[in-house]
Amino acid sequence: MDSILVKGNGALNGVIPIAGAKNACLTLMPATLLSEEPLTLTNAPRLSDIRTMTQLLESLGAEVASLQSGQVLAMSSHAISNHTADYDIVRKMRASILVLGPMLARDGHAIVSLPGGCAIGARPVDLHLQVLEAMGAELDLRDGYVHAKAIGGRLRGAVFDFPFVSVGATENALLAATLAKGTTVLNNAAREPEIVDLARCLRKMGAQIEGEGTSTLTVQGVDRLHGATHPVVTDRIELGTYMLVPAICGGEVECLGGTLDLVGAFAEKLDQAGVSVTETARGLKVSRKNGRVKAVNVTTEPFPGFPTDLQAQMMALLCTADGTSVLEEKIFENRFMHAPELMRMGAKIDVHGGTATVTGVEKLRGAPVMATDLRASVSLILAGLAAEGETVVSRVYHLDRGYERVEEKLMACGAHIERISDRP
Ligand code: UD1
Repeated sequence: MDSILVKGNGALNGVIPIAGAKNACLTLMPATLLSEEPLTLTNAPRLSDIRTMTQLLESLGAEVASLQSGQVLAMSSHAISNHTADYDIVRKMRASILVLGPMLARDGHAIVSLPGGCAIGARPVDLHLQVLEAMGAELDLRDGYVHAKAIGGRLRGAVFDFPFVSVGATENALLAATLAKGTTVLNNAAREPEIVDLARCLRKMGAQIEGEGTSTLTVQGVDRLHGATHPVVTDRIELGTYMLVPAICGGEVECLGGTLDLVGAFAEKLDQAGVSVTETARGLKVSRKNGRVKAVNVTTEPFPGFPTDLQAQMMALLCTADGTSVLEEKIFENRFMHAPELMRMGAKIDVHGGTATVTGVEKLRGAPVMATDLRASVSLILAGLAAEGETVVSRVYHLDRGYERVEEKLMACGAHIERISDRP
């Protein structure tokens, strides 16, 4: 297993291109299962999660060609030749459950293993199943698999009120509703930019969708969808992560492709902490306003609130802030696994249930630490960039699921970072 070595190297300056969003791409890719015609995604990120989704789609009979070094995914799903999403692939990534809605919608049946993914809380898929049931799916959970059949061979439109916001369940329902008979109304739907991107792509394929970006999505089912080409929206989590580089190390970084509408609540917290964010013609420019950042309180919420996927990275920043910050995690239980690792670097953090109290220290010290999930791993790299001495982050396979060319992007800003490979 590879590790990453980071040495604190003072202020960092430069330009970082932000890739297409992993989470958008993972929901756009299964849309290929909805149509016989080709779906091409441009601006795709080059990540191991995307390769896992590619493998999964191929196992179902789709053809996926990765072009231009992986930035273009040319997919086509003339027929679904296998309707079983196997445990061996699904266990690697929770987003695999997103093939369930499309397969059910197109062919009226599917068998999908219950998913795995990052170990951040229990993360059930009950809402995915409930909304599909409301649309006329008959479900049977056996041997770790969901066996699903559309009653009468085709899903039908339904009105469904989500009891709480779920990004994935909204995506599964939206994908399925495009080919259902009649109208589907999804209330308390997720409003994340990735949902907006999915709705836009599905509309290009001929779907009739209204309300993306609001909490009510209305879908008029159609008989068939056609091919399309769609650019994946910018990754707001990668964007937020790199915006933290000058915040935590000093210097100035311009994140190419970034826009404020993707990171509004996050940029507001940075502003309160004493970090300036300005929109330029090609992205977002970030630097400290003056000296040490100030403590701020943060509560994670569904979009447009502060994203849970930036909580770990924000905590790394607040570890060196002046004063005491309180971080409340409202989306996932057990999402403070990075806290004990940051404490190995000299951070002062108290975790009680879903709340972490962080008292800033002047300087973190490098230490050997372990990545426990995707966002935690990058928070340790950020902390390492600001620490005195050497930090070695082990188990970085988590990082490769969600950040492409991280060493290259940071080195271009003057960071001292290198990958240590275990393989001969
Ligand atoms: C997506 C993102 C993930 C992000 C999360 C919240 C992808 C591939 N992943 O995950 O990076 O952290 O949104 O912004 O897009 N829940 C249930 N039952 C369900 C579904 C969810 O109880 O059927 C719970 C979850 O355990 C969690 C909360 O609902 O506590 C929100 O989860 P959800 O929005 O569904 O997250 P994901 O789609 O899995």
